[in-house]
Amino acid sequence: MINVGVFGYGTVGSGVVELIDANKEVLKKNTGDDVKVKAILDLRDFPGDPFEKLVVHDVNLIVNDPEISVICETMGGVGAAFKFTEMALKAGKSVCTSNKELVALHGPYLLKLAEENNCNYRFEASVGGGIPILRPLQDALTADKILKVTAIVNGTTNYMLTKMTREGADFNEVLKEAQDLGYAELHPEADVDGFDAARKLAILSSLLYGKTVNYEDIPTEGISKVSSADIKYAKALNCKIKLLAKYEDGESGAYACVAPHLVCEDNPLYNVDDVFNAILVKGNMLGDAMFYGKGAGKLPTASAVVGDVVECAKNPGKNVPLNWADEQVKLSGFENSSRRFFLRVKEDAKEAAKAAFSDIKEVNAGVPGEFAFVTGKLTEAGFAKVKESLGDKVLNYIRAEE
Ligand code: HSE
Repeated sequence: MINVGVFGYGTVGSGVVELIDANKEVLKKNTGDDVKVKAILDLRDFPGDPFEKLVVHDVNLIVNDPEISVICETMGGVGAAFKFTEMALKAGKSVCTSNKELVALHGPYLLKLAEENNCNYRFEASVGGGIPILRPLQDALTADKILKVTAIVNGTTNYMLTKMTREGADFNEVLKEAQDLGYAELHPEADVDGFDAARKLAILSSLLYGKTVNYEDIPTEGISKVSSADIKYAKALNCKIKLLAKYEDGESGAYACVAPHLVCEDNPLYNVDDVFNAILVKGNMLGDAMFYGKGAGKLPTASAVVGDVVECAKNPGKNVPLNWADEQVKLSGFENSSRRFFLRVKEDAKEAAKAAFSDIKEVNAGVPGEFAFVTGKLTEAGFAKVKESLGDKVLNYIRAEE
C-alpha cells in the first residue's frame, strides 16, 4: 500500500484526493500497488465531505506517520508550505507539489534536502498545470540542445485576452469570470502583472540552464496595459495578443522574459485560447515540439501532482536527481536580443516616429487620433532608446513574436 498525505484541502488538494479515489485501478496498474490517501492536513473541518474523516489539524500526524511515504503539498504560499515541506523531506517522505511560488523561491534547497534524505521533491504541476513539460525536458528531450522555449503558462491571462479578443469584453469583467472559475491566484495581480508566468519561467529556465534563475531577475510585463485598441490592431495584422514567457539561448546569450506579444496566425501558439496553456520547445535536432493542455483548474493540476506521486512510488527510498544546481545565474542576453515591435503614437508624432524608426510598416485599424506601425528588427536596448526619444507621444507598444 502506498499511503499518501495531503497538505491543504483547497481546489487542487481536493482534486488530488478525488483523483486518487476515482483512478485507483489506473494507479494500481501504474505503481503495482494500492494508492490511498491516509490523511489530509487543513486548518478547517469539512462536515459532509466524503473524506471528512481523513482531515487532521496537526502536521506531525502526517510527517511522523511511518506508513505515509508520499505527500502532496497543495497549500500554496511560501510560509507554512515551506516549513511543512522541509519537515516532510527531513522525515524521508517524498513531496509532490503544484506550488510554483515555493519551487521558484526554494526549489534547489528542497531538491538538495530530498537528495540528503533519499526521497524526492517533484513539481510537474507547478508549470503548465496538467501539461507534462518538466519531465519531458529532463528526460525525453535530453539529446537536444534546447534553443528556445516560447510558452503560454498563465491560464487566467490567456482566458482574459481570449475573451477580450472574441467579445470585446471589459478587463475587470473577464478577470472576475476567471476568478469565479478557480483559475486566478488569490491575489490576481500575480496573474495580471505577469509574476505567476515569471515564476513558472524561472522554474523552466533553471531546469534548462541547470543553475538557478531567480524570477525577480526576469524582465516582466503583464497585460494591464493591453487595451481594446491594441486588440483591434492585432486583428488588423491577423495576430492575437498573448502573454508569452520566453527562454532563448541564442547569439546574444541566454535570456528569459515575460511580456505580451503579437502572435500571428502561422505560429502554433495563435490557436492556444481560453484557459489552455502551451509550451513550444525548439531543439537543435528536434526542431519544434508543442506541449498543449489545460494549464489551471482542479483536476488537470491534480493529474500532474498525482503523476509525480506515481514516479515517487516507483522509486521508494531512492533519490532521482534533477538538473538544477543551487548556483544563481543572471541571464544577461535580453538587452541584445532582437525582434520587431508594434508601436502606437499620438497622431501629431507621426513624422517624428517615421524619422526615428526606419523600415516601418503602418497599421490601420480605424482608431482615430493616432499613428500605429510595426518596426523592423531592433534590439531591446535599441528600441528602448528610440522609444524614449518620443517621450509621452508613445501610447503603447507590444513586442512581435517571430
Ligand atoms: N493562476 C494560475 C493560472 C493557476 O492562471 O495559470 C495555475 O498555475
